[in-house]
Amino acid sequence: MTRGLFISFEGIDGAGKSTHIARVAELFRQAGKAVVLTREPGGTPVSEKLRELVLHEPMDPLTEALLMFAARREHLVQVIEPALARGEVVLCDRFTDATFAYQGGGRGFDWQVLGELERMVQALPDGSLRQPDHTVWFDLDPLIAAERLASARLPDKFESQPADFFAAVRAGYARRQVDKPSRFARIDASQTMEAVGADVSRIVRSWLEGSAE
Ligand code: TYD
Repeated sequence: MTRGLFISFEGIDGAGKSTHIARVAELFRQAGKAVVLTREPGGTPVSEKLRELVLHEPMDPLTEALLMFAARREHLVQVIEPALARGEVVLCDRFTDATFAYQGGGRGFDWQVLGELERMVQALPDGSLRQPDHTVWFDLDPLIAAERLASARLPDKFESQPADFFAAVRAGYARRQVDKPSRFARIDASQTMEAVGADVSRIVRSWLEGSAE
């Protein structure tokens, strides 16, 4: 029985991560793995409803953090844990690092409270904490991200935040990486899309080799 693999993808809005996730799925499928592509907030009918609320309605910061974790709990129970138990590869467009980066860094919400919610929501029956095995962090200067987003579609509640909000989000990601350096693969997202794609492929191949035994 092969163990599942849980990979999350992170970065500020405009860092370009979504483009590369499909390619990662393709690499795993070519290697004969079953892949579940999902996202946060979202990934189940209830969590997608919560996504609509948190991305479009103004609300109190604790409410926002609680809804992110409520959506995550449902997603873990309904989708992520069953897929990992089947030995599948779960590719998740954002996970808890986004809550620390956006609600913690961006909104300035209490880091310790987020840690408590993380422990409550991601606890496994054996007492350990569910975390991604790997996190690909598309790191980008917020000013470059803003230029990229300016030509994109209508912004949601987060995408319309000013550059200093995203500087704080980026610092939040950096703080999470310092806490768990072995989990994070940082990619310089200011490169061309081809160069970023090559970096992502190289990293994924190394994980595939690691999970081959
Ligand atoms: P995003 O992943 O960028 O999706 P899309 O490409 O469709 O815009 O959008 C999700 C937004 O939600 C993004 O701005 C980050 C924010 N977010 C949080 O603030 N906290 C969280 O915990 C998560 C998962 C996302």
